[in-house]
Amino acid sequence: MNAMAGAVSRAVNVEDLRRAARRRLPRVVFDYIDGGADAEITLRENCRAFEAITFRPRCAVETPPSDLRTSVLGLPLSLPFLFAPVGSSRMFYPRGEEVAARVAGAAGTVYILSTLSGCRLEDVKKATQGHAWYQVYLCGGRDVAASTIGRARDAGFSALVVTIDTPVAGLRERDFRNGTKELLTRRPWPMLPYVGQFIARPRWLAQFIADGGLMTFPNVMLPEGPMLYTDVAAALEQSTVTWRDLDWIRDRWRGPIVVKGIHTSEDARRAVDAGASALVVSNHGGRQLDGVPPTLRVLPEVLAAVNGRVEVLVDGGIRRGSDVVKALCLGARAVLIGRAYAYGLGAGGGPGVTRTVDILRTDIVRTLKLLGCPSIAELNRSYIEAPADWFNHTVAAAPGNWAR
Ligand SMILES: Cc1cc2nc3c(=O)[nH]c(=O)nc-3n(C[C@H](O)[C@H](O)[C@H](O)COP(=O)(O)O)c2cc1C
Repeated sequence: MNAMAGAVSRAVNVEDLRRAARRRLPRVVFDYIDGGADAEITLRENCRAFEAITFRPRCAVETPPSDLRTSVLGLPLSLPFLFAPVGSSRMFYPRGEEVAARVAGAAGTVYILSTLSGCRLEDVKKATQGHAWYQVYLCGGRDVAASTIGRARDAGFSALVVTIDTPVAGLRERDFRNGTKELLTRRPWPMLPYVGQFIARPRWLAQFIADGGLMTFPNVMLPEGPMLYTDVAAALEQSTVTWRDLDWIRDRWRGPIVVKGIHTSEDARRAVDAGASALVVSNHGGRQLDGVPPTLRVLPEVLAAVNGRVEVLVDGGIRRGSDVVKALCLGARAVLIGRAYAYGLGAGGGPGVTRTVDILRTDIVRTLKLLGCPSIAELNRSYIEAPADWFNHTVAAAPGNWAR
């Protein structure tokens, strides 16, 4: 067993996988996963918010085998967590999106593929025996997006996830410090100060080269070919999704639409009115607007606004099974995990992602038993104590305030 495989199999928690990923990946790649926007306040708060919730267990009760099954948008899932869209996963491990999708399917859950993926969406769908959703950015303009949406439908993706929090890429300061801009020039002199981080990770470098080197974006097919890595930032800026685009997207997709990036009750109502089938309360894992509240804190407000009309999912800061349980107790239908599986992928490919799933699954089972709750379907607010002010919702803004 090589050192990496050993580190993966010995990982007791997600933090162990994070450390193993830091040892295998060049700094610029690890920090791309690990970092957040600006001062990383929201990134930290997303995790810290889980500490504000405490459990109220029921002791000395029977603990039958725990039932983790649920359904999201009518799809049966074996686990209450889905795989969030994580762009550029192919930089973490050869054919990273296919590898992660395969593990998600084997575990009985949904893999959500980012538009900014290094693998063709058809290949990713083929790699999983489970359901996959496609997360769309309108990069390259409407014609390019329309053709990708058609491809996703033909390939068998069962829902379209529209991310609304990325009118421009957030300022990820670590990326600047690690020379992302200079490295993408591919010119020797600007790159020189930053190449040492690759030489320090020969195993990753060999696998990266064998996988074809710097990935392109085969799901953003421009007239001249797949979008290049150097063009992502500009493409995101030119492809802001607005509420008006949702009608256009719905006409092309003709299936369930999940709106991801809900930060407030106002936008939650707006998304439901625009025809969303489900929402994801998400701040992009603290990678976009720094200083927004942690998602867990926003979840009760969004649930109250939506009032059962659509399913509400949440992501951000989930590193333990007990975090998943807390979000479900608050009323989330299910959660998305992002970095938790990205660390596993970066640490050791498929076995690393499988380790993430195993850690979270056994955590959830243990937490249910310790709570005295037989199934995730029976989790509710009575199993937790949460700060009272999380439930003091401000009245929604008048529709006039929504016009932008
Ligand atoms: C490296 C990385 C890349 C991401 N790329 C995308 C993306 O392409 N599209 C998207 O909607 N969200 C993207 N996200 C956000 C995730 O979907 C998710 O909202 C976030 O990771 C949840 O927070 P967590 O990482 O703390 O679990 C990305 C997150 C990470 C860490």
